[in-house]
Amino acid sequence: MLTVRDVTVRFKGVTALEDVGLDLQRGRVHGVIGPNGAGKSTFVDVVSGRRRGGRASIVYDGKNVAGRSVTWRRRHGIARSFQRTSVFPDLTVRAHFELVGRTLRDESVDELVDALGLEPLLDRKCGQVSYGDQRRVDIGMALVGRPAVLLADEPGAGLSRSQSLELARFIRRLAQERDMAVLYIEHDVDAVFEVCDEITVLNLGRVLMSGTPAQVRQDRSVRDAYLGREE
Ligand SMILES: Nc1ncnc2c1ncn2[C@@H]1O[C@H](COP(=O)(O)OP(=O)(O)O)[C@@H](O)[C@H]1O
Ligand SMILES: [Mg+2]
Repeated sequence: MLTVRDVTVRFKGVTALEDVGLDLQRGRVHGVIGPNGAGKSTFVDVVSGRRRGGRASIVYDGKNVAGRSVTWRRRHGIARSFQRTSVFPDLTVRAHFELVGRTLRDESVDELVDALGLEPLLDRKCGQVSYGDQRRVDIGMALVGRPAVLLADEPGAGLSRSQSLELARFIRRLAQERDMAVLYIEHDVDAVFEVCDEITVLNLGRVLMSGTPAQVRQDRSVRDAYLGREE
């Protein structure tokens, strides 16, 4: 449903991404792992439309959308969440969801708030809820409007291992229930191996390999480049 090819991004001579591609499918979770600086966030920036120019082919529902803006992509079902929490501290949780819900004309926001366990916090200001709850507001906002594609850039960043695993399982369940394609970036590889159907490993801006969790776990070059240090 989303086919990304040939993504190449250079920052002043430094190549952040070179010919990176992957396919996302409805109902499936596609993990992207790789050391810090591998190019994961830059890849999400390209697919979400935050970074344009450069070389990329992004075919969504049969059309190349590489020239489209972030807003266009969001309205047409490509949503992202950020590695750094992007909530407004002075706005209530409710106001966040109302704002996005109105813009995207989504009537089913209550259900989403429930599923995220945010109902008791609706009238609290985002600056006054825990970091973990802010992360859930952040993810929740990306899910308003029932996007067909969710690009989740380290949704578990800053959470405890068990909290981030819980979030990973929640995202997996949503992918299946909503028939949504998910690109999931997370540095806790155990969580990635558990919830992903397929994994792409990035290293220094290139695809080291793509495969099932079992294939990735067994791959020698992945172990050397990335997993090796944990053994
Ligand atoms: N705006 C920018 N200007 C210059 N270099 C950047 C910029 N954003 C990212 N980079 C560089 O691109 C590479 C990939 O970064 P990033 O996509 O954030 O990696 P990851 O998310 O995998 O940690 C890094 O070497 C980083 O320093
Ligand atoms: Mg990153």
